[in-house]
Amino acid sequence: MEIRTVGVVGLGTMGAGIAQVSVQSGHETIGRDVSDEVNERARGTIERYLSRAVEKERMSAADKDAALARLSLTTSLDDLADCDLVIEAIVEELAPKQEMFAELERICRPDAILATNTSALSVSKIAEATKRPERVIGMHFFNPAPVLALVEIVRAEQSSDEAVDDAYRWAERAGKQPVGCNDTPGFIVNRILIPLLNDCVRVLDEARVSPEDLDKAMTNGAGWPMGPCALVDLVGIDIHVHASEALHAALGEERMAPPERLVQMQREGKLGRKSGEGFFSY
Ligand code: 3HC
Repeated sequence: MEIRTVGVVGLGTMGAGIAQVSVQSGHETIGRDVSDEVNERARGTIERYLSRAVEKERMSAADKDAALARLSLTTSLDDLADCDLVIEAIVEELAPKQEMFAELERICRPDAILATNTSALSVSKIAEATKRPERVIGMHFFNPAPVLALVEIVRAEQSSDEAVDDAYRWAERAGKQPVGCNDTPGFIVNRILIPLLNDCVRVLDEARVSPEDLDKAMTNGAGWPMGPCALVDLVGIDIHVHASEALHAALGEERMAPPERLVQMQREGKLGRKSGEGFFSY
């Protein structure tokens, strides 16, 4: 099946970024979140980044207008009924995701591909909530989704070859660098990155360094494009804590448990860039 119309459920940082990737690559895209306010914020973010691309002469003004015209926003899941592919990017918790997939299965066409952008939850468990687990896969994008090329195409226990291949081809057409993998905890990148970032946060207290100095160390000493504290702020403290908890629950390694410092930041509402305060202020 050639994927033409894409639905994106959940228009936070990741959902808005994925919707941008989709409209920019010529796909009719329907974004759905629970309120007009969230929807309009996502449209504003997408418009801002597309305008920036026009300013930098990476895109023409006409292409920007055409991309924005391909984006429609709704608060009703029913409006996703005709989508070929729906990518879910809601809260990183299993129960709400399972409920969402059961609902999407009821609404969407039987041949639609239902993909989750989960960071570290089991795609197979999410698929269990449906009667068509062969249509369920993972499509894991990286923050910022319009900038980072990787998309992990995750094959769950019952995913069909057709669903996996169609999603892989769509990601290529969308200008991404897809990589296929099995549904193991953390897939490829997060299996490695999450415990590494947890180690970085623990080093703050163990070696008594400031977030500024830790970031200075890792950008200058390891060639990272941004420091670990800036990166956790970008990803979101809450997202990182959820992913750590999921990996720890699945693999049981102590390094995978979220460091107390991050759990405390989450409790205080210091969620990183999106809340204006994390390791740094924004
Ligand atoms: N949408 C669209 N464009 C964006 C963007 C966004 N959300 N954020 C940044 N950009 C654009 C900027 O506009 C800029 O374009 P310009 O050249 O026209 O100004 C370009 O990207 C580069 O941005 P900056 O100049 O601000 O800064 P940098 O050159 O330092 O790049 C970065 C920023 C791309 C974030 C780079 O530092 C980087 O790649 N960092 C690592 C990020 C990373 O590792 N992400 C993965 C996190 S793990 C994850 O997401 C998985 C999840 O499951 C936890």
